[in-house]
Amino acid sequence: MSNVTVIGTQWGDEGKGKIVDWLASRADIVVRFQGGHNAGHTLVVNDQVYKLSLLPSGLVRGKIGVIGNGVVVDPKALMSEIDRVVEQGLKVTPETLWIAETAPIILPLHGAIDRAREAVRGKHKIGTTGRGIGPAYEDKVARRAIRICDLSEPETLDWKIDELLLHHNTLLAGLGAPTFTKEEILAFLGEITPRLLPFACPVWDRLDEADRAGKRILFEGAQAVMLDVDHGTYPFVTSSNTVASVAASGSGMGPKAIGFVLGIAKAYTTRVGEGPFPSELFDDTGRGIAERGREFGTVTGRPRRCGWFDATMMRRAIRVGGVNGIALTKLDVLDGMDEVSICVGYELDGKTIQSFPSAPGAQARVKPVLETMKGWNETTAGARSWADLPAQAIKYVRRIEELIGAPVTLLSTSPQRDDTILVTDPFEG
Ligand code: GDP
Ligand code: IMO
Ligand code: MG
Repeated sequence: MSNVTVIGTQWGDEGKGKIVDWLASRADIVVRFQGGHNAGHTLVVNDQVYKLSLLPSGLVRGKIGVIGNGVVVDPKALMSEIDRVVEQGLKVTPETLWIAETAPIILPLHGAIDRAREAVRGKHKIGTTGRGIGPAYEDKVARRAIRICDLSEPETLDWKIDELLLHHNTLLAGLGAPTFTKEEILAFLGEITPRLLPFACPVWDRLDEADRAGKRILFEGAQAVMLDVDHGTYPFVTSSNTVASVAASGSGMGPKAIGFVLGIAKAYTTRVGEGPFPSELFDDTGRGIAERGREFGTVTGRPRRCGWFDATMMRRAIRVGGVNGIALTKLDVLDGMDEVSICVGYELDGKTIQSFPSAPGAQARVKPVLETMKGWNETTAGARSWADLPAQAIKYVRRIEELIGAPVTLLSTSPQRDDTILVTDPFEG
């Protein structure tokens, strides 16, 4: 029996939340280890829809949720999310939600810098969520972040805020944006401290104890490998590592804790924000997929760009992500299409290549090499076993497995929790 780490393998929104919620019935603890409230995970349980950004999806199953040290925490966003889900009937208390005391805090100035920088980038903008994620991670690495444990030490806050403001006000003034005062920061922190501090604890210690007691841990990744700051389509990426290896460092556990790595992939591809997307569709086929798949961002409401399944990109994501098996989601969205295609390579400046280049200019120029096969008319929506799937859909899934060199471990056929086909149990893997 092992732990399971779930990561996105495309550009996010693969359905990680749905799969984590489904798997959480087999786990004791669900841990977020990177990202922040740039993530948006939609879970559908009968007629209840849960939209989570920062809270681990396992809370919906009544499991312990953990926000690890690798996450950047916006306290106000967190509190309003807690208020929302408590209203929906969930229990969120310091017993059910543990937050790493070493997690950095996202301040209002981080969002202001994120948005001001995007505005001046013009046509080179990244298309961030504008939530201050990048600036907050920059502060962490620059050693000037305010962390949750600092909230209990006024003398530490005093000098840290001075250092923060010296840096950020210079930048904000240069960008022509309003600056912040020490009083404003102190007032913000004063407001959030009484609600936030009770959740703070040495997560690494509790997880170690749980691990020793044989509890099953499910690590819940946000974003995806192609948005990883090292392995993604840099600079059109998020500011954290999203690959499975950071589940350990982002929660304070050793690498052995990671266990089976389940990569989540849509049966096609989507992307929100700017940046290269070789298999993107700009025609009615793409618009049809967007409509049937309801492809609008959970966080920003922006329409998601849609394209064919990119097996070449996935091969890379599987290798750098350390993926042992994939959960293929949204197969139902391809129902009723005459033909379906898979990107099996790229053409760059007249040459055929098998791996995605690293330089941004080349990444933007690559054209997809497509393999097209017959689609299926029957519906897969709501299927709960292989026997419910049309032969041609099975052929499509098998071809994907062959091309990416990884097995399909789970298959998802609707947003509903139980419309899921288990092929092999990742906790047994
Ligand atoms: P995440 O960020 O990876 O957790 O994914 P999101 O929740 O942002 O986006 C995935 C969307 O697809 C959500 O609206 C889900 O309810 C929905 N979804 C997940 N799995 C399936 C599926 O198999 N079929 C369909 N039609 N929708 C799905
Ligand atoms: P989940 O967990 C899809 C994208 C943004 C932008 C880039 C950088 O729901 O899959 P950031 O605000 O992180 O600095 O933005 O990353 N992005 C996501 N796209 N799903 C997400 O999360 C994302 N989180 C960030 O759109 O292109
Ligand atoms: Mg999402």
